[in-house]
Amino acid sequence: MNCSSRLTGLLFWTTTVAFGQSVYSIADMFKPRATPADSIFNVSILMLAICAAIFVVVGGLLTFTIVRFRRRKVDDNREPAQVYGSTRIEIAWTVIPVLIVLALGMATARSVVEVQNKRIPADALKVTVIGHQWWWEFRYPELGIVTANELHVPLSTTTKSTVTALTLESADVAHSFWVPQLAGKMDLIPGVTTSMWIDPRQQGIFLGNCAEYCGMQHANMLLRVVVEPAADFEKWVDAQKMDAASDPRLESARTTFLSLNCINCHAVRGTIAKGTFGPDLSHLMSRATLGAGMIPNTVENLRAWLKDPQTIKHGNLMPNMQLNSRELDEIVKYLSSLK
Ligand code: CUA
Repeated sequence: MNCSSRLTGLLFWTTTVAFGQSVYSIADMFKPRATPADSIFNVSILMLAICAAIFVVVGGLLTFTIVRFRRRKVDDNREPAQVYGSTRIEIAWTVIPVLIVLALGMATARSVVEVQNKRIPADALKVTVIGHQWWWEFRYPELGIVTANELHVPLSTTTKSTVTALTLESADVAHSFWVPQLAGKMDLIPGVTTSMWIDPRQQGIFLGNCAEYCGMQHANMLLRVVVEPAADFEKWVDAQKMDAASDPRLESARTTFLSLNCINCHAVRGTIAKGTFGPDLSHLMSRATLGAGMIPNTVENLRAWLKDPQTIKHGNLMPNMQLNSRELDEIVKYLSSLK
């Protein structure tokens, strides 16, 4: 990746508004916007408060001792009074820490139970999250939608609480799904199914990250959760359910795409492309990023990606397809029509 595209990427990630939506970065982790995140926030504030109090007491006593019992004269070599054995002090410094640990343990257990024992309502939106090196697949089994890297979920309001139930799996190695403002981390383990839930009450785009080292591009396994009002979510669902656009003017571009090896790894709804190894491309241009959040999804970047994905995201599993310039033009033309 060259310097200017790195800079574009940086600007892209520090921007706070995209597509007219507010973007909430990972740095906003102390502003929870869903119930599981509230629970974690509350317990962490309690921990911080208790630890701060311990710090103040210990630091205060230490400072007091240093000042109070300092050597006052250069030739004063007398030892201060020594204390040998005090049952009261022994009891105090055993009992107080035990009580503190007990209180912290109970607060944590309460929070864990609150999040993990939640009864998922029958009408919850179900999404299967599949971790891949290094991108996210989102499947909505009841809606028949497959997308990548951007999870769309409906907004939960005070009048109607809307829960999204996530089932997490891995296609290869261990990953971890983490969107700090919505919930805690949940691992995606090969051969094991885990679950979590969210009920976001703020509209906008929430940024997240893979939080378990999963190989070379772990740091670039980014994700976004797009929280939108029910009506907008329905609109998005309807658009995703449609077959991929097929503009008759792009017939030759489409034919070129379908004649290449792209279709062994990628699916495009309503065509013979049914690969499942890479992200579904049916509505590629409805997504904001390429390479799992690495670069903005513009026609220019799409072209650069197709020309050589390895220079943008080194080590990713999409090989350089060695497209000639005609093929490159045609594929860019076709893919950028998939709204
Ligand atoms: Cu996936 Cu780290």
